[in-house]
Amino acid sequence: MLPKTPIILAIESSCDDTAAAVINGRKILSNCIANQEIHIAYGGVVPELASRAHQSKIVPVVKQALRKANIDKKDITAIAYTQGPGLLGSLLVGSAFAKSLALALNIPLIPTNHLQAHLLVHFIDDERIQTPKFPCLGVTISGGHTQLVYMQDQFKMNIIGTTLDDAIGEAFDKCGKRMGLAYPSGPEIDKLARKGNPHRFSFPIPNLPAYDVSYSGVKTAVINFISNQEQKNPNFIQLNLNDLCASIQYTLVQIILKKIIQAAKEKELNNIIIGGGVAANSEIRNQLYQIASKKGWEISLPPFEFTTDNAAMIGIAAYYKYKKKKLGSLSDISDARLKYGI
Ligand code: KG4
Ligand code: ZN
Repeated sequence: MLPKTPIILAIESSCDDTAAAVINGRKILSNCIANQEIHIAYGGVVPELASRAHQSKIVPVVKQALRKANIDKKDITAIAYTQGPGLLGSLLVGSAFAKSLALALNIPLIPTNHLQAHLLVHFIDDERIQTPKFPCLGVTISGGHTQLVYMQDQFKMNIIGTTLDDAIGEAFDKCGKRMGLAYPSGPEIDKLARKGNPHRFSFPIPNLPAYDVSYSGVKTAVINFISNQEQKNPNFIQLNLNDLCASIQYTLVQIILKKIIQAAKEKELNNIIIGGGVAANSEIRNQLYQIASKKGWEISLPPFEFTTDNAAMIGIAAYYKYKKKKLGSLSDISDARLKYGI
């Protein structure tokens, strides 16, 4: 007989962060992340290096999460891990570790969906979070994804809009790389943009039907614009860095904001929840709070530690699967393109 309130050890290893968390019911007891600095030198995630780094970091980060939570291995009810989507080599390290430990402890496994988890952080029991009401519009903005999701509950999640090419975070990172900023450049652009003029340079905002977005056109426009300006003045970036960051950030944020406003209106949704690394961006946070107060939306932006990849989000997604008795098995396979589902 499984306990009603489980203690779940959750593992996240879908990309370049090795993370472990312990969750008791909906309360987070620990949330530990080992970042992989190795990718900074390459200006982006190198999949093979990410898998190798996960292998060396996973044992220490799990030990740290258990220690911080003050939980012994024998007290864990189930082990959750990210089944997908993500980089296959990275996913395999997390799933192999989770399966081995679950087998050794003779406890259930809970494979979870990384994207579903980015949105379900809003259901963590935390005084900083007001649990959203359904139906709501889920917006996932990260380095790998940009999605608008109609959410009827924690499992009925219907993607109504997506990027046709690059993700918003990828656009931040690639524009940053062109300006010589370190990877991932989203946080640095955010910081520099505070000192710049967002209307100094203008870049195109695509006009796509329904709720789809595109980021590759604006990325190319930024790169070409900088190259043209550098021909006239080789110091163009240094002389205009803050204004460039502010103008690029303004455009990238406007593209998704336009679609959020349109979807909320047409689908009659007043509850908007945002997840993913780019949810840490101050421009999108400020804009959303302002629009929400004008339109009477209930807007939920996660605390910073739950925005970028973390294992607490895997823990909460696993908690809801556990409640539905949707447990996994040793034969579940990792899936780089895993779709939403129970
Ligand atoms: O969710 P996440 O950790 O990983 C994926 O699942 O992709 O998101 C990482 C992305 C990176 O592209 C990073 O540049 C971006 O989130 N990011 C930001 C900020 N903080 C992280 N982008 C803009 N402003 C930020 N403050
Ligand atoms: Zn993510």
